[in-house]
Amino acid sequence: MAIFYQQQNRIFTLQTKQTTYQMKVDDFGFLLHLYYGGRISGNMDYLLTYYDRGFSGNPYDVGNNRTYSMDVLPQEYPTMGIGDYRNSGLIIRNHDESECCDLRYVGYNIREGKYGLSGLPAVHADLHEAETLEITLEDRVSKMQVRLLYGVLEEEDIITRSVEIGNNGENTVTVEKAASACLDFISGDYDLISFYGRHAMERNLQRTAIAHGSYVIGSRRGTSSHQYNPAVIVASPDTTEDNGSCYGMVFVYSGNFMCEAEKDQYEQTRVIMGLQSDLFHYSLAPGETFTVPETILCYSDRGFSDLSIKYHRCIRKHICRGRYNDCSRPILVNSWEAAYYDFTGETILQLAQDAAGLGIDMVVMDDGWFGKRGDDNSGLGDWQVNEEKLDCTLGELIRKINDIGVKFGIWIEPEMVSEDSELYREHPDWAIQIPGRKPVRGRNQLVLDFSRAEVRNYIYRQICNVLDQGNIEYVKWDMNRSITDIFSTGNSQGKVVYDYVLGVYDFLEKLTAQYPEILVEGCSGGGGRFDAGMMYYTPQIWCSDNTDALDRLRIQYGTSFFYPMSVVGAHVSAAPNHQTGRNISLHTRGIVAMTGAFGYELSLAKLSEEDKEEIREQIRLYKEYEELIRTGDYYRLSNPFQDAYAAWMHVSDDKKQVLLHVVMLENHGNMTVSYVRLKNLLSDTVYEDVHSGQRYYGSALMKAGIPMLVELGEYRAYRFIFRACVE
Ligand code: GLA
Repeated sequence: MAIFYQQQNRIFTLQTKQTTYQMKVDDFGFLLHLYYGGRISGNMDYLLTYYDRGFSGNPYDVGNNRTYSMDVLPQEYPTMGIGDYRNSGLIIRNHDESECCDLRYVGYNIREGKYGLSGLPAVHADLHEAETLEITLEDRVSKMQVRLLYGVLEEEDIITRSVEIGNNGENTVTVEKAASACLDFISGDYDLISFYGRHAMERNLQRTAIAHGSYVIGSRRGTSSHQYNPAVIVASPDTTEDNGSCYGMVFVYSGNFMCEAEKDQYEQTRVIMGLQSDLFHYSLAPGETFTVPETILCYSDRGFSDLSIKYHRCIRKHICRGRYNDCSRPILVNSWEAAYYDFTGETILQLAQDAAGLGIDMVVMDDGWFGKRGDDNSGLGDWQVNEEKLDCTLGELIRKINDIGVKFGIWIEPEMVSEDSELYREHPDWAIQIPGRKPVRGRNQLVLDFSRAEVRNYIYRQICNVLDQGNIEYVKWDMNRSITDIFSTGNSQGKVVYDYVLGVYDFLEKLTAQYPEILVEGCSGGGGRFDAGMMYYTPQIWCSDNTDALDRLRIQYGTSFFYPMSVVGAHVSAAPNHQTGRNISLHTRGIVAMTGAFGYELSLAKLSEEDKEEIREQIRLYKEYEELIRTGDYYRLSNPFQDAYAAWMHVSDDKKQVLLHVVMLENHGNMTVSYVRLKNLLSDTVYEDVHSGQRYYGSALMKAGIPMLVELGEYRAYRFIFRACVE
């Protein structure tokens, strides 16, 4: 049992293995937040204090009690219009244009299993793994009914939150803002850790104190974006990787989002995660319901490492789905950085032949195989195989590739249309643009209106037609621009951005159900849609268009705070690197890419015999440790933005097998020695370094660490494999 309700004082308690979450319905029917943090016993309503606070108004029904104000009390789901002047989780514009929603308690329901959300990705669990609490609140005047959904995964220390907003009234209302989670802290100082970036440099960590005023991150780009990831950590100022208190909030959504953190006049902190309110006005007719995407909450009092491990497990087991979630991924070579648009069928076949000689499992034909697509200015939307370019049918090409023992995968970008395409000439109104205005172009392409079923169904048929032409075992689903000019000819304008994302989910749901054997890898100019929403459909996502090993270390470091390594697509590319011009050894590039779902992205034909030999060895090693990398616990052992080295490790569940990788970032004259300390080993167990045969106690590896070699050369990288010795 994880969810408890005490009838006499109307307190709800959610218990996980190591955390407690508590809330209370008070005498006026408001749902107040009491506590979230390390596991405790007892009722926490003694924490609530009441004082007469000037300029903080009092709800009418509290009578002359001037000490009761929503402006001060901690709340579960704060709304606009009830005297709380802090950030709101919900803003409803009523039929009479007033902005007020006064939610009071109606009832609750507790059930076994985890709730699901219609049309949206959400944490899933077996019946015995989770419980659901549903609390119904209502505005007695407008009859808006709000159901707060809580999913509790006791063993995983995970609590999920989502909200269903139902219009039970007689008039249409508009949802102007909707969040799925609010964390109100009555005391304490907190930092907000968010992950900002740009195309080809995603998920850099930023830590800022939550101060008076509001600190807001989010996206208005139509996707979750390269610029801010929809996941944050709220931590005590002294929290480190290994110590201290921290809360995670991960939004399971791939479109516009907003996270607001503020400290109020009484030094209380509020953090809200939900949908972006700009470009969003969702009208709800009587009888209709709107669902706010889920936020996954997690708390640890043992620092960021522990928080990350919990998110990794949750996302890998309870978000990602499909056959490939639990089995080894093919090592692939992708044609993009090998040939860009300049290929024929022969080029792809040659790449497959070279791949076969190295032990690579799959060749992926990236952008350029369809319509008129000699470069990135035309052809999107015309999903017909360019047989002239390939010099054969797609089926023939795949057969030839399969005949040499190599699997075949293909790139698609279903959400897009080029103005120079047959599709656009036929259906210009299918592109998102405002009538009478010239649209903003991005990569010279426009975005198709996936909020409209007829548009996505047409594209769906085109894509299926391609997938049915041969034995396609992998699809890379790309999305290469941000959305602007929000307007739809078939929808109401304030709904477009949300319905668009649900349209993408609908497409992906159908695609993955119809082709369960295909591995779908997500991508949006690399990591522009690297979020838990996409991970529900695509258990692997291309982490960044930046394949430079040094930059990748940092991108993968930021990514690892929430997302499991099984999702992180990581490839070895050419030197000098195409994004940075940096020259890094093949050995180091291999080590960096071996952090996640491993592959190659370079012309294999240009490799020297020596490089080919090294690649064969990389592949042998990756195959040996693929399961450990995919399913083991991943620990960051340094901060590559600050430290002289980057280090990380994968350790098996039983802690008996360890893979440690280190890349030296600094080299100076008369260089100092770096000591790398491991984590989460068995203290009293002896581990053997399989290469050197040297033995160490787990406690020694964790407390004192091991010295790195001081060697000449830039970005030297080291791999250590430790095995627990069975005496
Ligand atoms: C995006 C992807 C790349 C590649 C190109 C093709 O940028 O991230 O990997 O597929 O599109 O146009």
